[in-house]
Amino acid sequence: MRAAVVGWGAALPDRRLTNQDLESLVDTSDEWILERTGIRERRIAEPTESTATLGIDAGAAAVKQAGLAPGDIDLLLVATATPEQPMPHTGAFVGEGLGLRCGSFDLNAACSGFVYALVTGAALLTSGQLGNVLVVGVDTLSRVTDYDDRDTCILFGDAAGAVVLARSPDHGPGLLAWDLGCDGSAAGLLEIPAGGSRLPASAETVAAGKHYIKMAGQEVFRRAVRAVVDSSRVTLERAGVASADVAWLVPHQANARIIEAAASRIGIPQERTVVHIERYGNTSAASVPVALAEAADDGRLGPDDLVLCSGFGAGMTWASALVRWGRP
Ligand code: ACO
Repeated sequence: MRAAVVGWGAALPDRRLTNQDLESLVDTSDEWILERTGIRERRIAEPTESTATLGIDAGAAAVKQAGLAPGDIDLLLVATATPEQPMPHTGAFVGEGLGLRCGSFDLNAACSGFVYALVTGAALLTSGQLGNVLVVGVDTLSRVTDYDDRDTCILFGDAAGAVVLARSPDHGPGLLAWDLGCDGSAAGLLEIPAGGSRLPASAETVAAGKHYIKMAGQEVFRRAVRAVVDSSRVTLERAGVASADVAWLVPHQANARIIEAAASRIGIPQERTVVHIERYGNTSAASVPVALAEAADDGRLGPDDLVLCSGFGAGMTWASALVRWGRP
């Protein structure tokens, strides 16, 4: 048995933050941001929106697109690094919003989170004989971004994406191969230092800005290209597939230059790479499912296409999944 993607959806806040807007916040320019990152604008959650509301909207769209009702969902996974609150897990809020009573849990692998959750959901579906699994990737990084820090505030946006997985026969469409990894020695390169067990929230941690994302950008960049390339190669090798046979690369969208460098080293041309970073920036766990949903909706992804999803993120984590697109 395999797990196939039978539905998809995305949710983006309406509010836009453009490079011009950022020029009035920090010492930067539209030209610099566009040249160094490929980003023109990002979406920012309103105070009335949150990780859960975006997750609910994307999840509902995916269930509807699959032609299912919420009662058909047997398991919910939410990949996020910006949970609704520390406890309970975001899946409790997303499940309630969707009217689910099935099991749910969150998974945090930062920007790799959606691919981790896709692999986990597929494994539980096939081993547990489940009917349908809803996998949501959602982040509201704007809530943990320091808009005085030009190294990070130019990069991040908010979004949610979701897919529904369903059973597919052994040789049908679905997840073919995957690779997950984490090098914890690089944990300090990209982190939110406070608000957890090691450094609980206090007036001092707030005053010191320790609840914001801190990033060693250049080193993350260097490792990101290597991680995406190596992880993609391992996944293709496990599936016995050549890069020339991949119809679409759907990478995590952190920087257009990372995407270009990685795609060319894997051997996939830009025309076969799904890129939306110009419009949304880095939306963390949402970037891959939003890209899948947009490319499926506009007809780029077709039946039997081999789709290679690959991402990296804080941890540092990396994750790749090769999916044969299409309904069983
Ligand atoms: N506007 C203008 N100038 C800037 C800005 C800015 N926003 N930011 C930095 N600069 C300056 C620097 O101060 C530096 O100036 P100097 O040469 O006088 O010292 C110069 O521009 C070059 O800075 P670099 O840091 O070398 O710029 P780089 O080309 O590396 O781009 C960036 C920086 C965009 C952050 C890049 O390193 C990057 O994208 N890194 C990876 C980020 C990433 O992938 N994060 C993953 C997140 S995933 C997750 O889990 C959340």
